[in-house]
Amino acid sequence: MGTIEQAWLHSPSRRQALLALGAMLAGSPSLGAQLDPRPLRGHKRIPGLDEMMTVFDFEPVCFANMPLKLYDYMAHSADSEWTKDRNRQVFDWVGIVERPGASAAAPDPSTEILGVPMDYPIMIAPNSRHGDLHPDAEAGTYRGATAAGAPMIVANGPSMPHEEIASAADGPRWIQLYPNRNLAVTRRRLERFQAAGAQAIVVTVDQQAQRYERDLHDRHLGGNPETGLLDADDDEEAERPTQGPEQYGLLAPGRLWYTWDFMDQLREFVKVPMLIKGILTAEDARICVDRGFDGVVVSNHGARSLDYAPSTLEVLPEIVAEVDGRIPVLIDSGFRRGSDIFKAIALGADAVCLGRATRWGLGAFGPLGVQRVLEILQAEFKDAMASSGRATLSEIDTTAVRADFA
Ligand SMILES: Cc1cc2nc3c(=O)[nH]c(=O)nc-3n(C[C@H](O)[C@H](O)[C@H](O)COP(=O)(O)O)c2cc1C
Repeated sequence: MGTIEQAWLHSPSRRQALLALGAMLAGSPSLGAQLDPRPLRGHKRIPGLDEMMTVFDFEPVCFANMPLKLYDYMAHSADSEWTKDRNRQVFDWVGIVERPGASAAAPDPSTEILGVPMDYPIMIAPNSRHGDLHPDAEAGTYRGATAAGAPMIVANGPSMPHEEIASAADGPRWIQLYPNRNLAVTRRRLERFQAAGAQAIVVTVDQQAQRYERDLHDRHLGGNPETGLLDADDDEEAERPTQGPEQYGLLAPGRLWYTWDFMDQLREFVKVPMLIKGILTAEDARICVDRGFDGVVVSNHGARSLDYAPSTLEVLPEIVAEVDGRIPVLIDSGFRRGSDIFKAIALGADAVCLGRATRWGLGAFGPLGVQRVLEILQAEFKDAMASSGRATLSEIDTTAVRADFA
């Protein structure tokens, strides 16, 4: 006997029997009960590439395209993520000086850095694991960057071999290095990078964190993803202790040995310009100049290194003053708008590198997304030049901005 008949027989009232009948009918496939009762056909959709108007538009699409653990890997920053917020907030503390009547009708944002001619002072910062974002991985980013005329710095550990990335496009391409304490291993890697066409080598020296609260707190949904690096021999095999306070440490144990003397030793293996990435003080910038490195990247690793480190824009003026034009000063961490880039150029940077911005582009729409992110930023940057009456990059000096901290 079925539920309904049981109810007719045993229920104290017909009302309950009617309720059971109603429940059965409501659940019946013949009444279309499995269909979404509120389909919102005209509204529920993921916006398309041609609807992306700012860099921020790409992030939710990228987020929707990937598992949480891979998104976390991209989004996370050290500890409380205070520095990550500050990397954005700092742009609110710098105003741009508008110059009506002094408009530069056709601003020329072109420049040249270490022998690389660039249409805009905008490049892609090294960041690993593009295979998390799109099947074309780094090859896709490189194609998108080349289409937009932006140089790319390929990370030490990409998701595909450096040689394959090299053959994907023909735009300017630098490669970043995480040194290995074994000089022979580092030398081999440097030789390989240069054989793969690196036009400059960028050595990252900051102490990047290796565990992040965001991943730990999302553990039930995936936690920290397995490494997807192909060339993952960057870190030494330093085992993390499983007992005592050390087990809770934030830093990657395999990079704590870095010294300036070691960086000096790499010079003889590098036949192209060699830059140092991860500089946040005038003192360290001076070390780079004194030791003959060819450029610095002012970077807090997108806040993935030390929480409560300053934003890079705040320390830029003192570094620029120290370097005094002797080597190029690049900057990254938090750049999402053309006006952000304008502010950094006004405070003395020679170029700006993008981390998450172009990752969102790749994750949202593949190579075309990367291209569009770059083109949006280029257009916004040019607009800022026009409105502030600056016709060339050299005209974008400190008088173009009002900074609370500079
Ligand atoms: C997912 C991800 C991976 C990264 N991988 C590297 C890397 O392999 N080497 C490196 O020097 N920097 C790496 N970075 C740091 C970037 O080069 C850059 O400093 C940072 O992304 C800039 O901040 P932004 O993401 O706010 O633009 C990575 C950043 C992200 C977000």
